Amino acid sequence: MEIYDALLNRRSVRAYYDKPVEREKLDMILKAGAYAPSALNNQKRQFIAITDKKVLSALNYAVESAVDEATRERVKSRSSKDEFNFFYNAPVLIVTACDENEIRPTEDCACALENMFLCAYGLGLGSCWINQLSSICEREPIASVLKDLGMKEGYRVYGCAAIGYGDEGKLSRPKTNEIIII
Ligand SMILES: Cc1cc2nc3c(=O)[nH]c(=O)nc-3n(C[C@H](O)[C@H](O)[C@H](O)COP(=O)(O)O)c2cc1C
Repeated sequence: MEIYDALLNRRSVRAYYDKPVEREKLDMILKAGAYAPSALNNQKRQFIAITDKKVLSALNYAVESAVDEATRERVKSRSSKDEFNFFYNAPVLIVTACDENEIRPTEDCACALENMFLCAYGLGLGSCWINQLSSICEREPIASVLKDLGMKEGYRVYGCAAIGYGDEGKLSRPKTNEIIII
């Protein structure tokens, strides 16, 4: 079962080749996100796929100027490349936003992000959840950059997906979630 392979073998990738993602693949990933469930089927998510290097760099700079030193160091320690960037130098960042007055915006976006990660895996691409923007999306200069990118009024970022051809295949810790079957 292909979907089960993706579910078990997808891993967060934190280093990417400098290679663009094909447009057809990006379209498929975005569609996978859009087809994720949403509470009351409200579908109030916005997916902003950034592929332009200059925009990615501007957003990275905006995040850098808004986060505290501890966050910066923590993210840096997870990056396996010397040339540090909050999005691990991925060629695509999909900002996943939602109307903050929706009934379940966090969950709606989380479902979409996981769909996109699994789709990316199926297409031979790596991916990683990038969380930094979520808590600081209303801070300047980030708010202005997001507005310029088309994020709607009253929306916030609930997570981002870094997507690209992975430069590593590191396995994460074994999964230890508790399972009870009665
Ligand atoms: C809500 C959430 C936020 C996350 N934020 C980040 C992040 O900001 N940066 C990062 O490198 N990974 C982030 N991750 C990825 C987790 O660290 C990763 O899923 C976990 O270590 C398990 O590894 P795996 O994805 O390879 O199974 C996040 C994951 C979730 C679910």
